[in-house]
Amino acid sequence: MARARRLPMTELAPYLVAAPHPRSPRWRELAKAPWPLDWSTLFGNDRPVEIEVGFGKGMFLVQAARARPTVNFLGIEIERPYVLLTAARLSKEQIPNVRLVCTDARWLLGGVPADSVHAMHIYFTDPWWKKRHRKRKLLTAEFAGQCGRVLMPGGALYFVTDVSEYFSETCELLARQELLRRAEVLGSSAGDEAGMTHFERKYRTEGRAIHRARFVK
Ligand SMILES: C[S@@+](CC[C@H](N)C(=O)[O-])C[C@H]1O[C@@H](n2cnc3c(N)ncnc32)[C@H](O)[C@@H]1O
Repeated sequence: MARARRLPMTELAPYLVAAPHPRSPRWRELAKAPWPLDWSTLFGNDRPVEIEVGFGKGMFLVQAARARPTVNFLGIEIERPYVLLTAARLSKEQIPNVRLVCTDARWLLGGVPADSVHAMHIYFTDPWWKKRHRKRKLLTAEFAGQCGRVLMPGGALYFVTDVSEYFSETCELLARQELLRRAEVLGSSAGDEAGMTHFERKYRTEGRAIHRARFVK
């Protein structure tokens, strides 16, 4: 697991949004209700919002926020070391338009206002094929339904993976959502180096095929 470069919490705090975590003792009780998110309170402005789910080391999030300073980015990641690492990167570069939440995205999306998100980015999430791991799976029908609900009309969902079977299965799942329509499926197309995640960069170096799709509400 990545380690955060040591920075005082006071420097990371502006990027961190407090929310219950599945490993916290009061999770069952707190998770019964959604955690309402209000974009203008969170970002202090009314600019467009994009969400990255499972941002890992934060490479895409940091690059995208740096390249598009008039867009607000919310990153949701369940592993705290990655959240701290990314907050440290943002703080080092003084990038102001990102907020990070450390929790289960499947639950947090329930508190996101309907029709309020310009884009969702879901990159290289684990397929979790094994039956005993299935409850960890992110891209379920329920999650896809939540993505459809929170996206604004015309908003886009970007899905990228290196696992072709998982790609086909997930595209079918997303296409079954009545609010979403498949706009683009790109096979193993070359990605934009500047917009790559850590996993995309790693897999491309290994010569693996990358599958990307865009769905639109
Ligand atoms: C395989 S990594 C990919 C990381 C990054 N997107 C990339 O492409 O480099 C998947 C990430 O999703 C996170 N994740 C998995 N399930 C999640 C959930 N339910 N909510 C939030 N994050 C989740 C994991 O902790 C991990 O960092």
